[in-house]
Amino acid sequence: MSSRFSSQVPDCVVQTCYEYEGVIIPNLMPLRVIKRVRTFACRPDDLFVVTYPKSGTTWTEHLCLLIKYDGDHSKLGGDHLTKHFPFLEMVEDLSNPTTSPALIDLAEKMPSPRMLKSHCHSPFLPADIGTDDPKAKVIYVARNPKDTAVSMYHFCHYIPNMPRYESWDVFFEEFLADRAPQGSWFENVLPWWRRRNHPNVLFLKYEDMKKDLPGTVRQIAEFMGKSLSDDVIAKIAEASTFKAMKNNPSSNPDTLIMKGIEKAGMEKPKDKSFMRKGVVGDWKNYFTDDQNKRFDELYEKQMAGSGLEFEF
Ligand code: A3P
Repeated sequence: MSSRFSSQVPDCVVQTCYEYEGVIIPNLMPLRVIKRVRTFACRPDDLFVVTYPKSGTTWTEHLCLLIKYDGDHSKLGGDHLTKHFPFLEMVEDLSNPTTSPALIDLAEKMPSPRMLKSHCHSPFLPADIGTDDPKAKVIYVARNPKDTAVSMYHFCHYIPNMPRYESWDVFFEEFLADRAPQGSWFENVLPWWRRRNHPNVLFLKYEDMKKDLPGTVRQIAEFMGKSLSDDVIAKIAEASTFKAMKNNPSSNPDTLIMKGIEKAGMEKPKDKSFMRKGVVGDWKNYFTDDQNKRFDELYEKQMAGSGLEFEF
């Protein structure tokens, strides 16, 4: 066992991640940056999108930007949407996390009003928002943990410098033990569920977004203090379907990720896309009956009394 980890983890994790305060974190989010996130100075007009990874973060960023610009994609100036939404704990160069500059530098210099993204657990988030009284606006998006796990497994095999697990079964055991990259799904989601009635918090679920995208646009717009016509709402929803985002190079993260991989001279992942399936229930193609039973036992225990329910 590597002394950098408090329990046994697969070699692929040892090679690509570290453990900090009991949480497994990819080297792409180095400790030097994680520590800066906590003291990051929020501004009252900041809008954060906070999620456990693979919960619909990019989708929500897309909605926020189109709402800000009344559905006019050209206002993004041809930039990829993620350029407008610095990912606080992430490095710029995926191929070289040790020496790469960090996106938090951009975030600090950005003019107001800023839009920002983070996957950090509450105790690592900026102190101004990671509490029961967030001082800036936070949209928290949660996705049922079974689909989140499957999406994460594929993501690990897509992005450079993420752990390439031997199989789904190996990844499942790590996820079940809260040792997947970014740690426990429950620790990320539940504090935000408890804060859901705070006026600065909007708690959304991926499955609801799938069911009623125009309704989600309306909800986010209201939270952002924007009044939009029904036509603009419909236009934003249309531009934000899975298919529309996948076909739009400035919305589909593949564009940027592939550019980075090419620049670093690394091998491109074959037949893989960030915009993978975008559906509810894909976990049924991965979880065995036994895995499902074991996950359900953990889920019942962790979620007991929370009142938070998901569609699976
Ligand atoms: P899948 O891997 O299940 O397809 P994140 O942005 O938090 O990393 O989440 C990525 C997941 O959200 C991926 O899930 C991706 O396909 C899905 N996604 C992205 N845009 C979407 C959209 N417009 N509609 C539905 N799902 C979307």
